[in-house]
Amino acid sequence: MTETVLLVGGGGREHAIARAVAGTEDATLYACAGNRNPGIAELAAGFETLETTNPTAVTAYAGEVGADLAAVGPEAALEAGVADALDDAGVYTFGPREEQARIETDKGFQRRFMQEHDVPGCPDFEEFRDMEAACEYIDSYDGDLAVKPAGLTGGKGVRVIGDQVTAEEAKEYLRESDYDRVVLEERLVGEEFTVQAFVANGEVRVTPAVQDHKRAYEGDEGPNTGGMGSYSDAALELPFMDEDDYLEAVDVIQATVDALEGYKGVLYGQFMLTAEGVKVVEFNARFGDPEAMNTLPVLETDFLDVLVAAREGGSLPQLSFARQATVCKYAVPDGYPTDPQAGARVAIDENSAGDALLFYASVDEREDGIYTTTSRSFAVVGVADTITEAEEQAEAALAAAGEEGLRMRHDIGKPDLVQRRIDHMRELRGD
Ligand code: AMP
Ligand code: GLY
Repeated sequence: MTETVLLVGGGGREHAIARAVAGTEDATLYACAGNRNPGIAELAAGFETLETTNPTAVTAYAGEVGADLAAVGPEAALEAGVADALDDAGVYTFGPREEQARIETDKGFQRRFMQEHDVPGCPDFEEFRDMEAACEYIDSYDGDLAVKPAGLTGGKGVRVIGDQVTAEEAKEYLRESDYDRVVLEERLVGEEFTVQAFVANGEVRVTPAVQDHKRAYEGDEGPNTGGMGSYSDAALELPFMDEDDYLEAVDVIQATVDALEGYKGVLYGQFMLTAEGVKVVEFNARFGDPEAMNTLPVLETDFLDVLVAAREGGSLPQLSFARQATVCKYAVPDGYPTDPQAGARVAIDENSAGDALLFYASVDEREDGIYTTTSRSFAVVGVADTITEAEEQAEAALAAAGEEGLRMRHDIGKPDLVQRRIDHMRELRGD
């Protein structure tokens, strides 16, 4: 039987999901997004431009195309109740309902939830509604704090004292903000990594660890972004960690799913590997962007089988992954993220990307070509036996794309940077 799958979202992450779904003959793909992503549009039988935070518009399109299943990429759609609306309209959606997406969309809820359910890896935290009280807490706290708005900020709202800002700058940031609530928590020091899990019917299937690069500029300088690029290794863990660290993260995800009850979709754990073990930076209620572009290309199990098993209420298939490393690099508009300049013409296509995979993100397809918007433009992903080879594939593709109007982090996945991560963890662990 052919399944009609509706994909919600138009970024690089969703282009990766689209490829994973369209890779089987048993699926007919439809997609909707705010921007016309040319990569997704090419794979889909139909593509509708609509506001993905509008549940009525999304369900209407699902009805029009006769969707049997849906997959939601962006967190804003989950927060807006798109999964609830689709489920209620009889379209099983791989993505949590609004209530359960709070594990991502409300950082105060997320920390209280971890504390109440004894989920391991929760840092010390306090939540504030009164920004002056938050400032006093900064003054009285012995050590550095991370300042986090409770709501969604596209990964750009956090300020870490002692890393990105001073205590005085953090207080100024709070006083000038119009945040309703903020979470202040102990600053975690270590190396970050992501583990994404497929979750449904109480079951958890984990995927290889990925390391994202949030900072805008090479050498981890500059403001936080949605993620400039990421890598994974041929093993489940990354070069700066060992298998036990990975398994510790998996235990945290399992404990979270057990406590969440009825969660479905992807649960994404963002972890800090510290000298004291694995701590939770945050959870996301969906695939990571860029991390989906590392994970889905090496998934050998049919992604459609996961979606169908989730809907049918049965056991999820065991996952199998190609033992290959991946390196993903985003090309972003000049000035991103603070002052992005849209409107550059994108000069790369799947043919000129060579051995690398090309994923379009927030670009717009017009009659005379593909143009950048103010968000991340496209990503190239190398897939090879080693991180170094995968990085070289990604770089070759970027060279073909040219740099006009675009910026990228060439250091991601290069041996120097990977080695720095290894040295950093060795130093912290004192070995
Ligand atoms: P989030 O939006 O929670 O993912 O935070 C964005 C980034 O801020 C994370 O990827 C970390 O690099 C940093 N960050 C968040 N919380 C902490 C923390 N408690 N300690 C250190 N860095 C943090
Ligand atoms: N790569 C970070 C995120 O998807 O939130």
